[in-house]
Amino acid sequence: MSLVILIGAQWGDEGKGKIIDFLVKDKDIVVRYQGGNNAGHTVYFKNKKHVLHLIPSGILHPDKICLIGNGVVIDPAALLEEIKQLEQLGISIENRLKIAGNAHLIMPYHKVLDAASEESLGDNKIGTTGRGIGPCYVDKVQRCGIRLADLCAEDKNLFARKLRKNCEEKNKILAGLYGVFPVNYEKILPEYQQYGEQLQPFLVNPVSFLDEAIKSGKKILFEGAQGTGLDVDFGTYPFVTSSNPTLGGAYTGSGIGVTSISEVIGVSKAYSTRVGSGPFPSEMDDQQADEIRKIGNEFGATTGRPRRCGWIDTVQLKYACLLNGVTSLAITKLDVLDKIKTIKIITGYEKNGKNIKEFPMDMSFFQTSKLITEEWPGWEEDTSSVSRFDSLPVNAQRYLSRISELTGVKIGIISVGPLRDQTFEVE
Ligand code: GDP
Ligand code: IMO
Ligand code: MG
Repeated sequence: MSLVILIGAQWGDEGKGKIIDFLVKDKDIVVRYQGGNNAGHTVYFKNKKHVLHLIPSGILHPDKICLIGNGVVIDPAALLEEIKQLEQLGISIENRLKIAGNAHLIMPYHKVLDAASEESLGDNKIGTTGRGIGPCYVDKVQRCGIRLADLCAEDKNLFARKLRKNCEEKNKILAGLYGVFPVNYEKILPEYQQYGEQLQPFLVNPVSFLDEAIKSGKKILFEGAQGTGLDVDFGTYPFVTSSNPTLGGAYTGSGIGVTSISEVIGVSKAYSTRVGSGPFPSEMDDQQADEIRKIGNEFGATTGRPRRCGWIDTVQLKYACLLNGVTSLAITKLDVLDKIKTIKIITGYEKNGKNIKEFPMDMSFFQTSKLITEEWPGWEEDTSSVSRFDSLPVNAQRYLSRISELTGVKIGIISVGPLRDQTFEVE
């Protein structure tokens, strides 16, 4: 059995899309298990940049089947737009894209609520992507959400009933709490009914779909969105997304039974980035961050916002490895450090004279803690065409070996550029 789960080990944008694209060659199925179109996974296809938001990154390979799992929240308009863009690239999705009927739908009021809630938080805003992700997951847990299966239901009035009730309730909240204009039931109904007709052919029961795939020996790759630091349970709460990008999310968000996972790959940049607000202990000073942002083109693939940049934080990374049961790391963007003279590694947090090596639960911890860092000499050589670990500059090898030593996890894949062939496995 070959089930591989790929997880963002930092705060998202680690290069998951690129690593999926590299790994998918010997897999049959790729499954997205959480998040929505807050994600932006960049893959180069025929040397052209392509960003996927909802559809698994394996779709660019013509023979792979892709499943959008039940843990994903789907904005149907965004999904149909993504399908259209793929078709314009000449990529056929017919019989290749499957969507779990029990996945929840992002509705127009979720986006309005997302924006209104952010506005009301003022300086404490989370810095969401504004895609309605949080409010959609709130409705799912509140048990008033609308699922794709409701939209495509045999009972043609089911969706209308649920929509009417939600619009009535949301309008009360929008007017009372936020003073925002109401959403219009009459307008949403036909728009979504049309989406339902278009999406109906993709709908599957993910449990039987995956069961059949596993029984027939298919190799499956699970594609996480966001990253461990943004996990609603294990991340820097409340500055997180509203789902579980971590290991458990792959199970609850896809419908695989108790089965053995052969590998968990944690993806991490050779440094760190974060978009949006929230604790980011290893954040660099402005000048250093500007330099990395420029070399690494650190601007959000979904919102275009500048990403905050930091050094690699092995306390955070080790925590991610532990909680996800990471069996190997994929380290991306090593080439971005090629010109940096001195590179820092965070090895602990200092608090009251103590060296703390555990990621805290109390986020106010970082207000008074200091970083314990090691300084490593850079390699000051171009790594972008290197394809073997032992061909890397010695200082780059030492830097990577130290990350592996501090996290206790081997490095399995190294990425030295955005293209598929700028990736290699470590033997
Ligand atoms: P994801 O959300 O984890 O899939 O990552 P994003 O696509 O949001 O951001 C990663 C960015 O880094 C994209 O622009 C990739 O093309 C780029 N990238 C990925 N790996 C490398 C690498 O090894 N080197 C460089 N220079 N860029 C990379
Ligand atoms: P990928 O899959 C980086 C961040 C937002 C914000 C927080 C909550 O490309 O790695 P949300 O809209 O989810 O309610 O926003 O999460 N965020 C991401 N940051 N990469 C992502 O996805 C992200 N998806 C959400 O910036 O801080
Ligand atoms: Mg991204």
